[in-house]
This record gives sequence, structure tokens and C-alpha cells, in this order.
Amino acid sequence: MIKIEDLSVYYKWKDQEIMALDRLSIDIKSGEIYTFIGPSGCGKSTLLYVLSGIKKEYEGRVSINGRDIDPKAQRIGLILQNYGLVPWKTVYQNAMLGRKIKKEPTVMDEYSRYIFQRLGIDDLLHRYPKELSGGQQQRVAIARAFLLKPDLLLMDEPFSALDAITREEIQELFLNIWKEHQVTTVFITHSVDEALYLGSNIVVLSPAPGRVLGNIKNPCFMMDNLRSRDEYQLMSNQLRNSIKH
Ligand SMILES: Nc1ncnc2c1ncn2[C@@H]1O[C@H](COP(=O)(O)OP(=O)(O)OP(=O)(O)O)[C@@H](O)[C@H]1O
Ligand SMILES: [Mg+2]
Repeated sequence: MIKIEDLSVYYKWKDQEIMALDRLSIDIKSGEIYTFIGPSGCGKSTLLYVLSGIKKEYEGRVSINGRDIDPKAQRIGLILQNYGLVPWKTVYQNAMLGRKIKKEPTVMDEYSRYIFQRLGIDDLLHRYPKELSGGQQQRVAIARAFLLKPDLLLMDEPFSALDAITREEIQELFLNIWKEHQVTTVFITHSVDEALYLGSNIVVLSPAPGRVLGNIKNPCFMMDNLRSRDEYQLMSNQLRNSIKH
């Protein structure tokens, strides 16, 4: 379980202090997918920086399975909003970076071949990030996170740069992988539709500075023909309204 208690984060900008998160508290249960939704600037990326160990200055308490966050000791797969690829490494090297840091084999194996192929980047492995489109870079970041087989997967709008068809394919790939490994996932999204499709739980954040407005168990999770269900329309309207206010 990830336990977040009274998490407040401030940024210093010139001589001002900007509050990005305001005493945010939530328990994230192991093996579940929590989709976080909230307006632009409410602190969603900031929350992910804290959970991944990138941002260490904060008030409050955050623990993973009762221990402090330690990316060296924990297997944390991270997909940043700006992809976070290393410019001087190839697609293949970028995708294997998580394994390399963990001092694990980085040779092509069956799983990596499968992931590259499903993400449609198997022809791009020798290119450098600057030779890729935004959506291709995003898919490399996704490959890197999946190849690590993480215990905790943190994703910041991971599918935002993809066209609609590719997005649907990769959403499905993600759900398939999740069904197999039940990896605890924190998934940031702008999209109500995505939050309902992918989240076993949906967390609504307030406008900046972010607090938890609602934490709902998603009744639509893994439903067949989701979008044609009454529950879906109801939840969708409720979520849209709660984000507006
Ligand atoms: N390095 C920084 N210096 C100063 N202010 C910052 C910095 N990074 C973020 N902020 C501010 O902190 C707040 C939260 O930013 P954050 O990026 O976490 O929001 P977000 O919810 O991820 O937004 P978006 O949906 O647009 O990605 C914003 O008001 C932002 O302007
Ligand atoms: Mg963000």
C-alpha cells in the first residue's frame, strides 16, 4: 500500500512560494489502478515526482509498504509527461535503461520483443529520441516502464500524444499486462473516459493547489461494452461535474 498523509508541496519561483499540493491524503491499495483526474496545474505531475522519489522536498508523510520511497530498493516504472528519454541513447538503450540501472540483462528477450512489437517501435530501435515523433517517444517511455516489470507503475498522461487508434491499442495492452501482473498503478489523466476505462479507483483532485475531492471505486472497471452502459453515462456525468466545480 502507498500511504500519503497530509502531503504539501511548494515550489519557489522568484521570491514567491507556489503551493502545488495542499495536505493531500490518500491510501493507494496494492494491486489496484488509481486514475487521478483534475484540472491543469492542480499538482498531478508534482504528486508523481514525489512518489517516484524525484522530488524529495515536501511536507507530510509518504510510504510504500511501510517504508520510505527509495527508487534504488523498489521497482518503480515511471512514464513522465515529457517522456524523460536520454537524448544520447538509442531507442533500444532507452527502453532497457530501467533494467540496466537494476544491473539486469539488457539483451533482447521474448518479453521485450513482444512489447516492442505491440507498441509498434520494433523498427525504430536504432534511432535516437530526436529522430522520433512525440507519439513514438511516448511509446519508448512506455516500453521502458513495462520492461522493468515494476512493482509500482507511475504514469503521467502516458497516452496523450497518441492518435486515437494507437491509444486504444495501448490502453488494451496495458490492461492485459495489468491483468497478468496486477501491478499497483498510479495513472494521471486529463480524460474522464480514460479514467473510467482504466481505473479500478478514480481520484478527483481539486483545482490548484491539489487536494482529494473524491476517491471512488469504479463500478465500470472491466465491464464489457462499457461505453453503452447506464452506469458509465452516470459516472461520466458525475465526474465531469465534479471537475467543473
Ligand atoms: N519548477 C516549478 N517552479 C515553479 N512552479 C512550478 C514548478 N513546477 C510546477 N509548478 C507549479 O506547480 C503547480 C502544479 O504543477 P504540476 O505540473 O504538478 O500540475 P499538473 O496538474 O501536472 O498540470 P498539467 O495537467 O497541466 O500537467 C502549477 O501551478 C505549476 O505552475
Ligand atoms: Mg502534469
